[in-house]
Amino acid sequence: MKRFTGLLRISVMLLLAAGLFACQSGSTRDGLFTAVDVFPTPPRPEGQTHVLELRADPIDTVRVAIIGLGMRGQGAVRRLSYIEEAKIVAVADVVPESVERAQQTLERMGRPPADGYTAADAWKEISKRDDIDLVYICTHWDLHAPIAIYAMEHGKHVATELPAALTIEEAWQLVNTAERTRRHMMMLENCNYDFFEMATLNMVQQGLFGEIVHAEGAYIHDLRSLLFAEEGGYWDMWRLEHNAKYDGSLYPMHGLGPIAHALNIHRGDRMEYLVSVSSNQFGLTAYAKEKFGEDSDYAQREYKKGDMNTTIIKTVKGKTIKIQHDVTSPRPYSRIHMLSGTKGFAQKWPRQGIALEPNGHNWLSAEEMAALLKEYEHPIVTEVGEKAREVGGHGGMDFIMDYRLIYCLHHGLPLDQDVYDAVEWSSIIELSKVSVKNQGMPVKIPDFTRGAWNELNTVTYYTK
Ligand SMILES: NC(=O)c1ccc[n+]([C@@H]2O[C@H](COP(=O)([O-])OP(=O)(O)OC[C@H]3O[C@@H](n4cnc5c(N)ncnc54)[C@H](O)[C@@H]3O)[C@@H](O)[C@H]2O)c1
Repeated sequence: MKRFTGLLRISVMLLLAAGLFACQSGSTRDGLFTAVDVFPTPPRPEGQTHVLELRADPIDTVRVAIIGLGMRGQGAVRRLSYIEEAKIVAVADVVPESVERAQQTLERMGRPPADGYTAADAWKEISKRDDIDLVYICTHWDLHAPIAIYAMEHGKHVATELPAALTIEEAWQLVNTAERTRRHMMMLENCNYDFFEMATLNMVQQGLFGEIVHAEGAYIHDLRSLLFAEEGGYWDMWRLEHNAKYDGSLYPMHGLGPIAHALNIHRGDRMEYLVSVSSNQFGLTAYAKEKFGEDSDYAQREYKKGDMNTTIIKTVKGKTIKIQHDVTSPRPYSRIHMLSGTKGFAQKWPRQGIALEPNGHNWLSAEEMAALLKEYEHPIVTEVGEKAREVGGHGGMDFIMDYRLIYCLHHGLPLDQDVYDAVEWSSIIELSKVSVKNQGMPVKIPDFTRGAWNELNTVTYYTK
């Protein structure tokens, strides 16, 4: 009898453990351990509808204002100057020399000078002008959402550097403003336009890999020297401050963007919950000790951001996504960009390769890869790839992004990336911070489309 009770107890424990595991993996919603809804979805305000595949009136010449002319903004001035249907009419930065540099670029490119602004709140005055169509934001992270919201409120389309939002609250403000004003709001995720990423998106859409089951992306980029650069680095060392104050996946968008499109996120599938864990912080302190001395302020201060953050996301349709973030270790650059399906596999870093059924054990040879990449070259790359390589900007992807943004505005087409992409990819920042703080607790990812995620069944990059 005693033995029987013991066996029963063990069986019950096993059943409970299996139940907990099943609940945690999202296969049931009745158990104790479903993901925590830390940020419940607010109802859509009355009279507002979604902006999936939003179309706005075509714009003959897209008049652009660029706010923030640091490392990234200067590149935008140059790239947009190549696009005939775009005209830069205003440039703003709190550093007057940066405004001057932008004017010199315009002159060099044979473009008329733009109106220059140096006040910290010039973006308000600029947003109120009635001769601007697009506000293009390249400031540090904290100003992206405030400027974007203000500009949409004043009737402007918006493109913002990454991330679009730092918090879930900002994310909802962006969604609500875009839905109410019917303005485009695109996050400038250039990595979606890299050549291999576009080819693999085309392969996915043509079924080469079968059903994509798992995908991985990352932002692994040794930024230590830039983070600590008092001169010539980030304005006011803003990026170091984020690493000092927060732990989590601080920059998930580059890794997530291309795979989210490959997985049709909010076009038939939806990210449901995540778990996120960070290593402790070692890298910045070790670097600061070596560079500035053991007793220096940089070596003594606290940096909250653990060197390696790993975030795992599960989708409603049962797919998994792994996103990593590490900007403080001496490692070769990587965004991973890995797609694993029922019929094949592709990966960009650390080794670019593809494997396909029935020979999935082996990488394709260099010749087979070249032929496949040619066969599946994305039509947009066929159209502007050569020009993009010539103009440059991370090898050309930045130009393809700007070209597509202006092309879609010019022709009145839906943009390739919408406000939901922008906030979904950015939302991982705050959601991961919460998970990290709570030992990897599963956290629900809000449905920013509020139920419309299943209305479309694929991502479309529209052409006329
Ligand atoms: N997509 C990419 O590949 C890529 C690459 C680098 C940076 N970025 C992103 O671009 C953004 C800018 O990064 P960066 O490297 O150019 O940083 P940066 O520090 O060089 O540039 C920020 C600029 O904003 C200006 N600024 C500050 N306050 C301002 C205000 N009130 N009004 C107008 N301008 C103001 C600063 O003077 C500075 O010139 C960041 O979001 C970053 O994450 C993206």
